[in-house]
Amino acid sequence: MRAIVLICLLHGALPFGWNVDQKSQSEDPKPGSECTTDQGSCGCCFMWKEVDRLTTYFNTTLNMLEKEYNQTKHSLDKIEGSRSAFSVALSSTPNLKCFGPFTVDKLITFKEIFINLGNGYNPSTGVFTAPHSGVYSLALTVYSDAGAPGKTLAACADLLVNGELVAGPGEKNELDQEDSVTTVVALHLKAGDKVAANLPTGCFLCDDGISYNTFSAFLLYSTE
Ligand SMILES: *[C@@H]1O[C@H](CO)[C@@H](O)[C@H](O)[C@H]1NC(C)=O
Ligand SMILES: *[C@@H]1O[C@H](CO)[C@@H](O)[C@H](O)[C@H]1NC(C)=O
Repeated sequence: MRAIVLICLLHGALPFGWNVDQKSQSEDPKPGSECTTDQGSCGCCFMWKEVDRLTTYFNTTLNMLEKEYNQTKHSLDKIEGSRSAFSVALSSTPNLKCFGPFTVDKLITFKEIFINLGNGYNPSTGVFTAPHSGVYSLALTVYSDAGAPGKTLAACADLLVNGELVAGPGEKNELDQEDSVTTVVALHLKAGDKVAANLPTGCFLCDDGISYNTFSAFLLYSTE
């Protein structure tokens, strides 16, 4: 009996994984059946088996949870690492100032930056370079003021992706003095794609610091 108790104690003192034949134990149809051969060791061996069974159970569960935690963390890191959003306005000058009309097409350089998360937008060129592949929401609002009723009004711009026209919101007439027009699109962009707003010939946009002209985009979700 003393020897059995000693073995039990030794087993408990040894690190996990010692001499544990998990496979054969899980196949044991009746835990504690050894009691029939050796009544004296019954309680102790049964406890061993229970401890080993629980150790395996917790180890497996822990491994599984660690794997799931790793996967979740990886996804979260990816989402956090790919954050991208910008929102800009034409200018912050308090007096009404107009951009255009020009005799050639010109990219609109929105100077007033509300947010430029990930620095994808370049205020000196007016170009947004998509930092990640994914689905983006793009919005362009333009406003113009003819100066007086009856004068030509041309609130218009082109939304370009890699130089190609995506949408061309415009409002041109001689009826109103002021007008505003907006376009919002969701597009799949590849990393490196260039988005810009172009001012076509004849169009002109005005602002007096109230941000009538805005250009915004944000990554809805990454597909990398
Ligand atoms: C726990 O699981 C890991 C991975 O399956 C294994 O390497 C390790 O030996 C196990 N430990 C115990 C105490 O069963
Ligand atoms: C979880 O990630 C850690 C650190 O990157 C790594 O050491 C561990 O092996 C991973 N575990 C699993 C179950 O993938």
